[in-house]
Amino acid sequence: MKQQFQIRLAGSDDVFDCDGEDTLLRAGLRQGLGIAYECNVGACGSCKFDLVEGEVEDLFPEATGLRQKERERGKRLACQCIPRGNCTIKIRTGAEYVPATPPRKRRATLASKTALTGDISLFEFAADGPAAFLPGQYALIGVPGKGQLRAYSLSNLPNPEGRWQFGIRRVPGGTVSNALFDAVQAGDEVVLDGPYGIAYLREKSKRPVACIGGGSGLAPLLSIVRGAALAGTAARPIILYGGRGPGDIPDVAAMLADEDVPVDFHPVVSMPDLAGAAWSGDVGFVHEFIPRKLTQPLDVYEYYLAGPPPMIEAAVRLLMIEAKVPATQIHFDRFF
Ligand SMILES: Cc1cc2nc3c(=O)[nH]c(=O)nc-3n(C[C@H](O)[C@H](O)[C@H](O)COP(=O)(O)OP(=O)(O)OC[C@H]3O[C@@H](n4cnc5c(N)ncnc54)[C@H](O)[C@@H]3O)c2cc1C
Ligand code: FES
Repeated sequence: MKQQFQIRLAGSDDVFDCDGEDTLLRAGLRQGLGIAYECNVGACGSCKFDLVEGEVEDLFPEATGLRQKERERGKRLACQCIPRGNCTIKIRTGAEYVPATPPRKRRATLASKTALTGDISLFEFAADGPAAFLPGQYALIGVPGKGQLRAYSLSNLPNPEGRWQFGIRRVPGGTVSNALFDAVQAGDEVVLDGPYGIAYLREKSKRPVACIGGGSGLAPLLSIVRGAALAGTAARPIILYGGRGPGDIPDVAAMLADEDVPVDFHPVVSMPDLAGAAWSGDVGFVHEFIPRKLTQPLDVYEYYLAGPPPMIEAAVRLLMIEAKVPATQIHFDRFF
């Protein structure tokens, strides 16, 4: 049997169990605690903590989510540390991080792989039990023999049949994405741990939905607009999507053809001459088109952003600093 350790949150009465194989962040979320986080992969720094008492092992000491100075001051990342005994940690918490569905690990089987663009495919996995998540959330996928888990956003809606769909981009030289494309075949098993993420659809919001994404960031935005359609959002959602060349722009109309999902899709490319189809549409960086394509004042929308960190950071800067959109209306996942 795995050894269980008790993790105490300094300054509160909260205590949770964590075995010697789970990270502090994931174990806390599994037990319903609202521990602050974003990426789960050591890159954003949201889950940094102070170890008040006890011993932990850092699985990824090179993770970029902490600056050297922070490491020297003893900071650690809860998504990359496993306990080696009972611990007390000082970490940020908040009601917004309390999981609606606590994440859990399960085995899932690859059902199908379908190409969407030159380097992005739709992967569907089947697992026992319902696929319970909120539109816009992600799961961690582990391929046997590859050790580490990677985050991938769900593109479908929660469903009782246990279907988990992801839009995954092949990253040149990447360990897990290439294993998923080349080694994992229909019927093969992976580990699927989730759901995670706080950039989920705010179903109660009456604001129009504006989605902004690039690269493989389309997947969660499709889940968001599907969820908005199901929730009966009054205004037609907008997706502003940036690719490098014409070949990076997926056929969103075809993907949603059999569904009643209203959406205005605005693709933009930054390199129109890159190999792919001829391009007569918008050219530039996706954030530059936010003021041009959104027809209402920018502070009325609920924003969902997903994709490459520089793209998200440019868009968030524009929204918060130039357009004065409150942070509470902006929800994003940076795909580190
Ligand atoms: C919240 C979130 C959602 C995402 N959603 C999608 C999506 O929907 N579709 C998609 O295609 N991609 C998505 N990504 C990116 C995806 O998780 C991978 O980064 C990408 O597939 C490259 O992984 P790789 O193993 O192929 O590449 P690699 O270059 O092998 O790995 C890159 C990633 O692994 C991490 N890493 C490297 N070494 C270690 C280590 N020792 N321990 C732990 N982590 C390590 C890096 O920090 C980096 O995140 C998402 C990322 C995040 C954070
Ligand atoms: S660094 Fe831990 S959640 Fe991002």
